[in-house]
Parts: sequence; structure tokens; C-alpha cells
Amino acid sequence: MKKAIPESSAVPARIPLCKPYLSQDEEIAALEVLRSGWLMQGEKVSDFERLVAGYVGVNYAVAVNSGTSALLLALLAVNLKAGDKIIMPSHSFVATANSAVLCGGEPVFADIGQNGYTIDPAAIGPAIDSQMRALMVVHQIGYAAEMDRILSLARQHGLAVVEDAACSLGSSYRGRQTGSFGEVACLSFHPRKVITTGEGGMVLTDSEEIGQTVRCLRNHGLGDARTPASTGCLRPGFNYRLTDVQAAIGIAQFGKLHEILRLRRRLAARYREILSGISALWLPAEVEHSMPNYQSFAVEVADTSIDRDALIGRMTARGIECRPGIQPIHLEPAYADKYGNVRLPETMRAARNSFFLPLYPAMTEEEQDIVIHTLKDSLNACRKAKGAQCAR
Ligand SMILES: Cc1ncc(COP(=O)(O)O)c(C=O)c1O
Repeated sequence: MKKAIPESSAVPARIPLCKPYLSQDEEIAALEVLRSGWLMQGEKVSDFERLVAGYVGVNYAVAVNSGTSALLLALLAVNLKAGDKIIMPSHSFVATANSAVLCGGEPVFADIGQNGYTIDPAAIGPAIDSQMRALMVVHQIGYAAEMDRILSLARQHGLAVVEDAACSLGSSYRGRQTGSFGEVACLSFHPRKVITTGEGGMVLTDSEEIGQTVRCLRNHGLGDARTPASTGCLRPGFNYRLTDVQAAIGIAQFGKLHEILRLRRRLAARYREILSGISALWLPAEVEHSMPNYQSFAVEVADTSIDRDALIGRMTARGIECRPGIQPIHLEPAYADKYGNVRLPETMRAARNSFFLPLYPAMTEEEQDIVIHTLKDSLNACRKAKGAQCAR
């Protein structure tokens, strides 16, 4: 028999936005490394790299200590330098643009499409000029970008394609894994991503040269991680190494990837089926020929009488953790002086209306029903209260 859903806010549901899918496997794996005495980058890192490279379908994978480090090293490896322009969506986490700026590059922000959260291929062409060197694609919250059109534009204009695949491990486009399309791609293993190492990231590429450059840069610019004395410092680099403890956790997580994707997609399909019947909400479309990993689940308020933030406030007060959707980089304090007047209507639509609902692999259907029920209730309450009067 179906359990009754609590009607009042007297019993808070306490459903988090996300929760990593961890078990004893990760504990055992980390403990084994701790007991081995070799904690820094070693065999476990190499094993983790091999597993991910094989899965995504690229020749080289280089593990680093965050997705942000991966982006910075990837851009240095494709030789983005002072004065070079790089086109990217503003609808992303700041790390996407920060990495370009820290290389001396100049982001050029393009809008996302009307139906989703990835860069609009139609917005790319008009932004290209003689200083444009690269194109950063973000497979945002696991939705694959329209790679066919993007790759053909990049080829036409001689631009290096860099995939920010921080959120999209396991997402595919025309049967190919995201992270395998560009000259170089970057993953994140932050706990909000599909698999986690606590903090961590990876650079993926088919190019031996890019792979070697990234390996060198992550380890102080030393030519060979195992025998640094033999080559010395070839170029100024960083210490962006991942530890074997983290890699062991990553390997255990990787073993669950198939299951994680199955559970995420099942829950997302259920949200889609039920929420598509609510006229006050709008759901982004899945890009044609793509399979999202549903790293996050975003919906948008479609009824202008409903205040999105007040709706989130009501959900939160009832124990359902919700968050506003992605806020545009070009309006962040670090970017607003230079880019504040750029017109990006769809990016602003998403920033204004979108919000994230809880979704994590261990979420039960009962928990999901509580989220849906509370959402319907909160929409009704907000609609009645109308805008400013809507209680937070
Ligand atoms: C699109 C995107 N790129 C890059 C990053 C940075 O990854 P990390 O947090 O591992 O540095 C994130 C993290 O949220 C992200 O969402």
C-alpha cells in the first residue's frame, strides 16, 4: 500500500538536494591505500586514469586535484594565451571562465538555446573574429551540447574545442560519450558530480602532446613523475596531483557508475513524466540524439505570478532542499564591469526561472513523491499569495 504523504510542514521531510552514492566499497578502498603507506599519486591514480579513458573512449587521461585545475591545464595545453579569445556560455559555474582568464585569455559569452542549458550553435558564428582561438562547450548539468553543429563550426573557423564535461561523465551524444569530442575535455569529481573523489578532476584527450603537457604541468613542470631527477623542470608547473587515497575512492565509485546512471535516469524520467503535467512549470528539452546523465535536475517556473525564490523558500521550510539554477558568469562581480551589458536573453531566462530539485541515486520513490507533492502545494500557495506576499 502507498504511504500517505505528510500534509503539513509539522514533520519536515529533510530531503537533500544531492547525496554521494557511497558504501563500504569506498571505505575499504581508502583504508587499503592508507595501510599501504603510499598515499600520494601512484598506481591507483594510473589505474583510475586507465578506467576513465577506456570508458569515455579517449587515448589519454590525466587525473588532477579538481575540475578547475583540469580546465586550467587543458587551456594551457591547447596554448590559450594573452589576447586570445575563447567563446563559451555565461550559463555555467565561474570556473569555466576563470580558467580562461587565468591563462590571459578573453572569454566571449554566447547565449544558450531556447530549449535547454547548452550553448546555442547559432550564437557562435556571429561572435567569431580573428582573435578567436577556442570554443569551450559546457555539457551543463549533464545535458550534452549539440556537438554536430559545434564541431563543424569549430572546423570551419580553426578553433580548438575544449569540453567542460565537469558535470557530464556518462552523458552521450549520438552514442558517443561526452568528453571524447574536443581536442581536450575536463571532468570534475566534486561530491555533486555523478562519481566523486571528494575533490578531483581529470583531463581527457586523444593527443599525446596535450596529454604529456598536462602530465608535466600537474607535477611542477617535471618531465617524468617517477624520475624527476632525470628530466628536471621542463616548464613552470603546479602541484595539481590527485592522491592515491582519492583515486582508490574514485575506482570504487567508477565500479558503481552504471548503476548510478541507471538510478539517476529512472528518477529523472519519473520527474519528467509527473511534472510535465503541471502548467506552472517548464522542463528543458533533452538535446536530440543525446542521453543526459541527470547530474542535476532543473525545472523552470513558467507562471509569471509565481516568485521562484519564494517557491524555493517554501520548499526549504518544508525540509526539501532546492536551489536557484545556474547564475550567469557575466554578471558576477569579477565580470560585470566588462560584460554586464552583454545581451543574453536565454541565459537570463534560465537564471531567473530555473531551480534544482533533489535527485540522488539512493532517492526512493517515496522521497520523490514527497518532493513532488510539496512542489505542487508550494506552487498553489505561491500562486494564491502572488509575488511579494508569498511567504519565504
Ligand atoms: C561546469 C563546471 N565546470 C567546472 C567546475 C569546477 O569543478 P571543481 O569544483 O571540481 O573544481 C564545475 C563545478 O561545479 C562545473 O559545474
